[in-house]
Amino acid sequence: MRIHVAFTPAETADAPLAIVIDVLRATSTITQALASGYERVLCCTEIEEARELAARESPAVLGGERRCVHIPGFDFGNSPLEYIGEPAAPTLVLSTTNGTRLLVTAAEHSERVLVASLLNLSALVEAVRADGSEEIAILCAGVRGELCLDDAYLAGRIAEQLDGDLTDSAAAAIRLANSFASAEDGLGVSQSARNLVGAGLADDITYCARESILTAVPRLSGTVGPAAEVRLA
Ligand code: MLT
Repeated sequence: MRIHVAFTPAETADAPLAIVIDVLRATSTITQALASGYERVLCCTEIEEARELAARESPAVLGGERRCVHIPGFDFGNSPLEYIGEPAAPTLVLSTTNGTRLLVTAAEHSERVLVASLLNLSALVEAVRADGSEEIAILCAGVRGELCLDDAYLAGRIAEQLDGDLTDSAAAAIRLANSFASAEDGLGVSQSARNLVGAGLADDITYCARESILTAVPRLSGTVGPAAEVRLA
């Protein structure tokens, strides 16, 4: 198995199996929402697309953020903590600054796409092994096109648990991950974390740093209009 890490969304990494990471917070939120019982998450790039889709796919709720802030008129933000407990509808339509955009792109380039977070780390690694793909691309959402340490940290944690041939970027991600004493440290040093702290959302960093507390492994199930549809298995 060849394992490659794309540290920024500008790198087009085509592989039959892609693993998408936006650990602070989009992919943690998607994992939490599906684990809580949402049947599907429709991941949208644009806010207007999300609004139209939610109306068309009713009953659905709208979630997301821009620059960490709740979008006016949306039901929820992008905190995984908002999605713990009973789902508010079968469908969550989600639009975030970087993460949902990367999912839409990954859907265009890879046959199979899995959604990764620390929350589902063990289950995700098991699902990748079960897939048996010869080639894997681990895709990091980054922050506004730039590498961010939180996603690179999780990429390294995933790559080190898979038995494969590492590209130099995958080897670099593992070394980077091993330079941190804990997941909270690995996430906490990032620009994404600074943005969340600035927005008064530090509790989300602590929650997203929890490891393997969920067994849900979201995967791309298709597209609905402009959105990438993600469900469990
Ligand atoms: C994103 O998609 O850019 C992030 O999930 C931002 C956030 O933390 O809400």
